[in-house]
Amino acid sequence: MGQFDSREIVSFEEFSKGIISVYNEEQLIKITANTLKAIFGGYYYCIRLFSEREKRITLTLAEGPVIHSELQPMRIKENTAKKMQVYRSDDTYYGVVEYTEKYHHIFKDTTDGTGTPVVFKGELLGLINLESPSGFLKPEDKLLMILFANQLAVSVNNIRLLNRTDVYRRFLYGIIDNAAVLISVVDSDGKIVLINKFFKDRVQMEFRDIIGQPVMGFFPASQRLKLHRAFLRLKSENLDHINLNLMFKQGDREFNMNMTLSPLKDEAGELQHIVAIGMDMTEFLDLKSQYEDSRKLATIGEFVSQISHELNNPITSIKVYSEYIKKRLQSHTYAESDILEKVERIENTIDRIQYFVKSIVSYAKPFSEERERVKLANILNQALYFCQYLIEKNNIETVMTVDQSIFLMCYPNQLIQTIVNLITNAINAMPEGGSLTIGAKLEGEKVIVSISDTGYGMSEETRKKIFEPFFSTRKSEGGIGLGLTIVRNAVLAHNGNIEVESEVGKGTTFRIILPYEND
Ligand SMILES: Nc1ncnc2c1ncn2[C@@H]1O[C@H](COP(=O)(O)OP(=O)(O)OP(=O)(O)O)[C@@H](O)[C@H]1O
Ligand SMILES: [Mg+2]
Repeated sequence: MGQFDSREIVSFEEFSKGIISVYNEEQLIKITANTLKAIFGGYYYCIRLFSEREKRITLTLAEGPVIHSELQPMRIKENTAKKMQVYRSDDTYYGVVEYTEKYHHIFKDTTDGTGTPVVFKGELLGLINLESPSGFLKPEDKLLMILFANQLAVSVNNIRLLNRTDVYRRFLYGIIDNAAVLISVVDSDGKIVLINKFFKDRVQMEFRDIIGQPVMGFFPASQRLKLHRAFLRLKSENLDHINLNLMFKQGDREFNMNMTLSPLKDEAGELQHIVAIGMDMTEFLDLKSQYEDSRKLATIGEFVSQISHELNNPITSIKVYSEYIKKRLQSHTYAESDILEKVERIENTIDRIQYFVKSIVSYAKPFSEERERVKLANILNQALYFCQYLIEKNNIETVMTVDQSIFLMCYPNQLIQTIVNLITNAINAMPEGGSLTIGAKLEGEKVIVSISDTGYGMSEETRKKIFEPFFSTRKSEGGIGLGLTIVRNAVLAHNGNIEVESEVGKGTTFRIILPYEND
């Protein structure tokens, strides 16, 4: 290296320092230009940077009397390639220049010049031209130019790479920031390292007051234990994620957040960060309750139309019969037996209306009594007693297997009504007679009351609908379809459950499961 003088070395050292501390191409070619001026005072130079992707010169900086038409060849790759040959050996590319033709001057009236390609891994990034207004360039000058060009190439490549990752980073962060969910990343100590706009808007604080703070501080005391436990589990167990619901108030608004916490681990499997993504369920829950309200309204509408429909038929027939009687009486042409028969029909129809009204009332207003502690066997006997007439009339034998020791906190009349409805259904299912079994037993913490019949049973399709209001397969025999709806509501009021088992042609068993409080 004895050919370089100390001035050149100092300038070159400054150049090396400069190019590693700049962030854009413009600064980069300015530094290159300054160094060229310092080393080759009195020469003309031209630095061009080229984007292979965009096939164009991105930056040009020249000092000297430029022949403008000569700046163009870099646009055309083939021409450029002709002027500069880039040699390749194995996988290494060298930006070595060898002139196959005479050097193409880009400055007016120069006597000698050299063009050095700026090449990184085979990709052309630019070209540096150096021309002398008088005399000749020394071979070592050309060598120095290659050193320059190679240094520049590395720096250009770095800056372009950085820009690309920066664009990518901004793209990703844009997605995170604009997501309509709460996103936050905390480190293994629970300190916040990243949040998005959603988070910031929710807590109504500035980024600088949030980043670095313990995440616990952003949740109310009542919810911290839950969150803390989740963090511990993520640290100690090998979980993909944890889901949890957090409730808290912010000002006068209450939030219901559904959070998913996922661990970010390093290669050794050590927890580094936790990513928390939260959905504000408040709006969703509002919508849900609005939806339920509107469904209730729809059900009430349907209910009212069912009721008027049910009442219309019997009222019409009462009207028809009374008009008939009136006509007969007015015309004095009647048989007493005929009139009596019509009056009986009217009575039956009124009975039906009364039954209907009773059903509706017990459906709509079942909670008018106090809870009481009663003996279960008494309830079952009372219910059976109410049905005795029908049982005898239909030739039905009854079997009772009731644990006499069971006492229950319940609404006694509601429970009697429930059993009556089930017994009535059982009787209705056995028009040819059969056997009715009523059972009551304790099973652990539960009381099981069962009503079984040996009747006609029901199909799967029927079974699915039996608890719906006004569903009945016995409309023609006066069924309304509220019996089981009332049963289900009463069982729910007792915090119980009801199950059905049925086989067509064999019979049906209803099982009521009630919680047993032993005290
Ligand atoms: N023990 C049973 N065996 C066979 N089918 C039954 C039995 N219990 C109920 N069902 C079926 O369930 C339907 C609904 O019963 P639910 O008691 O709600 O109404 P319903 O008996 O038809 O009329 P009502 O409102 O007068 O009681 C019945 O129509 C019947 O098809
Ligand atoms: Mg019924």
